Amino acid sequence: MFRDLLDFLASLFAPPPNAPARTTRIVLAVVCLGILGLAVTPITVTAFSCLIGLFSSDKELPMTLPPEALPPQGPAGGWPHTGLLHGITGTYDRASLQRGYQVYAQVCATCHSLKLLSYRDLSQLGFSEAEVKAIASNFQVDDFNDNGEPVKRQALGSDNFVSPFPNDKAARAANNGALPPDLSLIVKAREGHEDYVYSILTGFGQSAPANETMQNGMNYNPYFNGHQIAMPPPLHEGAVSFADGTPATVEQMAKDVVEYLAWASEPKLEERHQTGIKAVLFLVVFAYVMYRVKRKVWKKLH
Ligand code: HEC
Repeated sequence: MFRDLLDFLASLFAPPPNAPARTTRIVLAVVCLGILGLAVTPITVTAFSCLIGLFSSDKELPMTLPPEALPPQGPAGGWPHTGLLHGITGTYDRASLQRGYQVYAQVCATCHSLKLLSYRDLSQLGFSEAEVKAIASNFQVDDFNDNGEPVKRQALGSDNFVSPFPNDKAARAANNGALPPDLSLIVKAREGHEDYVYSILTGFGQSAPANETMQNGMNYNPYFNGHQIAMPPPLHEGAVSFADGTPATVEQMAKDVVEYLAWASEPKLEERHQTGIKAVLFLVVFAYVMYRVKRKVWKKLH
């Protein structure tokens, strides 16, 4: 009885009558085990790391994420060109734009380019053609003479703003390895937009909390991701003197320069708003006229 059972079990594992030779069977078995092992390894590794993750507490993991930035805050009173109603009708504050240009030109332009703007765009801020020409003439641009040789010439109104550094490497070398980004679209490019840039500019001055070690040459700014920014505080009270007598506080200069950068990122905003309002007015009048026409045409059928 017991023997029968053993025979039966052995027959289960016995090679079928037309099985390949013993060595072939061994090679096949090794290959199959190898493939199985390869397939199972990642599953095992994942399972193990999940287990390790489950049982290890967060404290033991190294701190790799930089501290998050504080939510940005705009100036008291908000921006004249944004917001629910201002978003439809808003225009830029001309006086603020002019002051903002002054802050950009006298402070930010030493490090930041504004490549997408041309000098003649400044005429929108109220500068006359002669003033635009005079501003442009302070800068030199690369050009070619009639023989095709590279030359430098004075910038014209049609030239784009000249960058402070000849290339990115020179810009990094002068700024502790960090690249001052081009400001043409910065207001659009960053989450928080105007408020973010305003917060960065006004967010200096506090010292870093004890648990945040500052790296060499970096400045503490809680509104910047990671809280360490390579830009030194660019604004300090009285950094510029405004022709219209507005006191040059850090908040005032920050508000004006952000208004200016918002305009720079969308110089056509006012035109767009005006066209939009005209189009809506036209549609309202047109709809009323069509309603009267419809009443007249259908009158006889009622
Ligand atoms: C001394 C050079 C210097 C001056 C002056 C300067 N900046 Fe910067 N700025 C930098 C550098 C360098 C960075 C890059 C910082 C980094 O990545 O850590 C930077 C970064 C920025 C950022 C970007 C932050 C981001 O999210 O990437 C903004 C916005 C900015 N600057 C605005 C200004 C404005 C506006 C002014 C003028 C009021 C100004 N900066 C003046 C050097 C300067």
